[in-house]
Amino acid sequence: MKIIVTGGAGFIGGNFVHYMLAKHPSYRIICLDLLTYAGNMETLAPVVGHENFTFVKGDIADRAFIYQLFETEKPDIIVNFAAESHVDRSIEDPEIFLQTNVIGTSVLLDACKKYSIKRFHQVSTDEVYGDLPLDRLDLFFTEETPLHTSSPYSASKASADLLVQAYHRTFKLPVTISRCSNNYGSYHFPEKLIPLMIANALNDKKLPVYGTGDNVRDWLYVEDHCSAIDLIIHNGRIGEVYNVGGHNERTNLEVVKTIIRELGKDENLIQYVTDRPGHDRRYAIDPTKIKTELGWEPATLFDEGIKKTIKWYLDNKAWWERIISGEYQSYYEKMYADR
Ligand code: NAD
Ligand code: TYD
Repeated sequence: MKIIVTGGAGFIGGNFVHYMLAKHPSYRIICLDLLTYAGNMETLAPVVGHENFTFVKGDIADRAFIYQLFETEKPDIIVNFAAESHVDRSIEDPEIFLQTNVIGTSVLLDACKKYSIKRFHQVSTDEVYGDLPLDRLDLFFTEETPLHTSSPYSASKASADLLVQAYHRTFKLPVTISRCSNNYGSYHFPEKLIPLMIANALNDKKLPVYGTGDNVRDWLYVEDHCSAIDLIIHNGRIGEVYNVGGHNERTNLEVVKTIIRELGKDENLIQYVTDRPGHDRRYAIDPTKIKTELGWEPATLFDEGIKKTIKWYLDNKAWWERIISGEYQSYYEKMYADR
């Protein structure tokens, strides 16, 4: 089995590469990544040199390059993680989100069609469903929830999902889609809530909570997302969407306070800052379909996963300190200086 993993130098894709090489030692994994600001070869350092692993640098939106790669490698499966993934950046500059998330996905779909690939799996997000009200805890996203996006990021991901479904319907392309809730764990880029708060708290910097901190996210330990995708590409039904999430809802404030407590810091580090425009209130996944059809269940609950994640950041300071000492510093200034 030969799998091209796009975006494998990023957070979830990198974890997926590690997961698949450990779980399926006979599979060949080709990681294709453009190495944008979010891609990091240090995330792949543990597998560089592995006999079944190859890294290729390139853009999923570069048609000639993608066709050439498919022609040479003749992959069985494509798992598409490659994306611009940060909501705040999409508010600052939406265009690259359309270029990578929409055009890039369409180029991959065309390549899959041209080379009769056995499976194209699109890694999507629960953000395509928009948000849920904070006072209706009985509501969850199911696969039938209408797409209703809030940010340029989620709009670009929803557009890609629609294209994937159109290629299935029109060209009978063998596709699957997973829509997962917020991930956390190792190799998470420190612009996102959990790693940003861990890094800032360790450096005794202010912890910028948007708005009131009451927004709710449904947190999934990244390895549980990897196990779900592994199950879907092997046993999922063609043309289907699977929601992935584990009923681990927390308000942002609860998450930040947990990190403060675990690190023995003081809550006066919390600083309430201007809210994100269009800020989604609550995400919450109903994972019934993947549980009943594929037997998937998350192995790690939030209280345990957050401890493991904090330990990883303590044990791997070099990985994230190098990121926050580089170009990231100007991003941080721009986003948070006048907030
Ligand atoms: P990330 O930003 O950490 O990684 C994205 C990777 O894609 C990076 O390595 C980057 O270099 C690469 N990339 C970007 N543009 C590219 C291009 N044009 N060609 C090739 N490679 C390119 O993102 P992540 O958090 O690991 O998310 C991965 C996927 O999972 C995304 O599609 C995202 O929408 C989805 N997702 C993320 C979450 C989450 O909580 N992080 C939840 C659900 C779904
Ligand atoms: P984020 O990690 O950006 O993921 P997403 O927006 O895709 O859910 O943010 C998670 C939540 O944390 C979201 O409600 C915004 C909030 N947040 C803050 O309060 N402060 C921050 O500095 C960041 C990055 C996020």
